[in-house]
Amino acid sequence: MANIHFDSTDADDERRRRLYSGDLYIYSPIKPALELVALARELMSHAFGSRDPERAQYEMPVPEYAAVLAELKPRFIHHPECKRLLPGILTALGCDQANTYFDVPRMRSSTSDNFLTTGIAYAFHPHRDTWYSAPMCQLNWWLPISGLTADNGMAFHPAYWGTALRNSSNTFDYQRWNQVNRFSAAEQIGTDTRPQPKALEPVAPEPDIRLVPPPGGLIVFSGAQLHSSVPNLSGRTRFSIDFRTVNSEDAMRLKGAANIDSQCTGSTMYDYLRCSDLTHLPQAVLELYQSGPPQPVCMAV
Ligand SMILES: [Fe+2]
Repeated sequence: MANIHFDSTDADDERRRRLYSGDLYIYSPIKPALELVALARELMSHAFGSRDPERAQYEMPVPEYAAVLAELKPRFIHHPECKRLLPGILTALGCDQANTYFDVPRMRSSTSDNFLTTGIAYAFHPHRDTWYSAPMCQLNWWLPISGLTADNGMAFHPAYWGTALRNSSNTFDYQRWNQVNRFSAAEQIGTDTRPQPKALEPVAPEPDIRLVPPPGGLIVFSGAQLHSSVPNLSGRTRFSIDFRTVNSEDAMRLKGAANIDSQCTGSTMYDYLRCSDLTHLPQAVLELYQSGPPQPVCMAV
């Protein structure tokens, strides 16, 4: 059973060790996280004009709405301020700038009542990020931009921590995905035809854990956690931000969560940038992960 740590004072080494063991961390909003939320809100209000971004789905046809998101999301992802604010968040929460690497933050939207759940607003089925070529030491950081409720956010499925699920991750290769599918997200309206790793057996919906921090509050979890988008029944579109980190020493020593059912190839290791100087991971680490999550993987930091 996972432990949930609220505003913990654990040092980063201890936090990573616990996260690799299935624990969850949740933090109250801190200044750089609130600045990141403010940046996202500014771009959202520019994109949606006079419309309330959380209600705009009720005032726009689906293709027009998808087109707004298709412009808004990359604008946020690649905004230069993000490369200042993410290291600020990580440093404020105790990560070492010299060996903590992050990738670009994604802006996510979850429309209410099945308005748009494909492509640019993909509603994530239960998955582990490690099915998508993430290393076993990847940590995920997730924060809401707008009012999060238990019926519009994200759910963890703790019964599957340490329990393998039959899945199709053996069909996924991150490098191939980038070449073929990633840039077609905005075209996936109605049905999403991109091949994504999925569970090949029913996933018990309960027990699930739904953490509900305020805007700018952070949830931190292992990329090996089984998690999903909660079907949004709140009547408002939920907007959130997530990004991922890797500690280079853990990556080099093959530390992280145990790999129980990820069989993908390729690696996301090329995406992470060091907090201190925005350089890529050392070549030795990249080579280690080139063909997929290396084995064996041990759990302890
Ligand atoms: Fe995920």
